[in-house]
Amino acid sequence: MHNPEEFTAVYKPVVEKALAEAVSYRGPYDGRVWEAMEYSLLAGGKRLRPLLLLLAAFAVKGSYDEETLQCALPFACALEMIHTYSLIHDDLPAMDNDDLRRGKPTNHVLYGSGIATLAGDGLLNLAFETMLDAVKADPAPGKIRAAAAIAHAAGPHGMIAGQTADLLAEQKQEISEEHIQFIEHNKTGQLLAVSLAAGCDLAGGSAVMRQTLEDAGFLFGRAFQIQDDILDATGSAEELGKSTGQDETNGKATFFSLYGLEESRRQVRKLSDEAVGLVETIPGAPAGLLREWILRLINRNR
Ligand code: IPE
Ligand code: IPE
Ligand code: MG
Ligand code: MG
Ligand code: MG
Repeated sequence: MHNPEEFTAVYKPVVEKALAEAVSYRGPYDGRVWEAMEYSLLAGGKRLRPLLLLLAAFAVKGSYDEETLQCALPFACALEMIHTYSLIHDDLPAMDNDDLRRGKPTNHVLYGSGIATLAGDGLLNLAFETMLDAVKADPAPGKIRAAAAIAHAAGPHGMIAGQTADLLAEQKQEISEEHIQFIEHNKTGQLLAVSLAAGCDLAGGSAVMRQTLEDAGFLFGRAFQIQDDILDATGSAEELGKSTGQDETNGKATFFSLYGLEESRRQVRKLSDEAVGLVETIPGAPAGLLREWILRLINRNR
């Protein structure tokens, strides 16, 4: 495995196959919610969080072995389910009111707000069912720790807190840098940080290594969100697969809206350099790949 592209080419299809199986069910009167769940879950996307969880687990193990993959896969899928649910709800008219996601009409545009809300709820619950089924089959301490960490990061102590702060900061005049940091740290940082930390839990890493990966994940998460805000203002809908200029339309409080393009680019670089500095302390080839990935993602255009 020499670079992030090679890693993605091998493991993205593995994740996508497992995701497709998880939403293939169709019930007699409830088929539509499964169809809506499948629509958004299989619409594409970078699959960053599941791939980072796998890579962190491999980095801690020091090898790309099948046992680690099979242990981590349900948790990787759960992260993508949670992330996709958050996007479905984030796009709802009551939130960011977006009509394009992953290059396709948003869930509520196709299925209506009621089914879209339920599809989001369905994916969130399916994520927990997926993790707990894995724990039930083999209640290893690392699996229990990973499931608890993911629950914490996705919930009102984590991503929900960030989304709440994001929503309440809309159209406000005086937003502090601290408030913006809280938004970035929680709405985006939590899920990215727990991708790395849970990967470490699953592979039985030390407390020091876990802390290092979590800290790096939070720094990278903030860089990733600022880059997302930059792309919202400067990118193309075609490349991004989502509408641009939405943050300005919605009066969002972002690092970009506060400090502008130059300063935002500088901040992305600074935060990701810090993240890379932390990951550099972890030995082995998979950790080297993780470093390279962080550096590439901050220069992404989609
Ligand atoms: C979009 O996440 C939402 C943010 C947290 C910025 P991604 O950029 O990872 O979206 P997908 O999964 O590739 O669609
Ligand atoms: C959303 O941030 C982060 C989530 C938790 C979904 P954004 O609202 O900036 O994400 P996009 O730009 O719609 O993907
Ligand atoms: Mg939003
Ligand atoms: Mg949004
Ligand atoms: Mg955005």
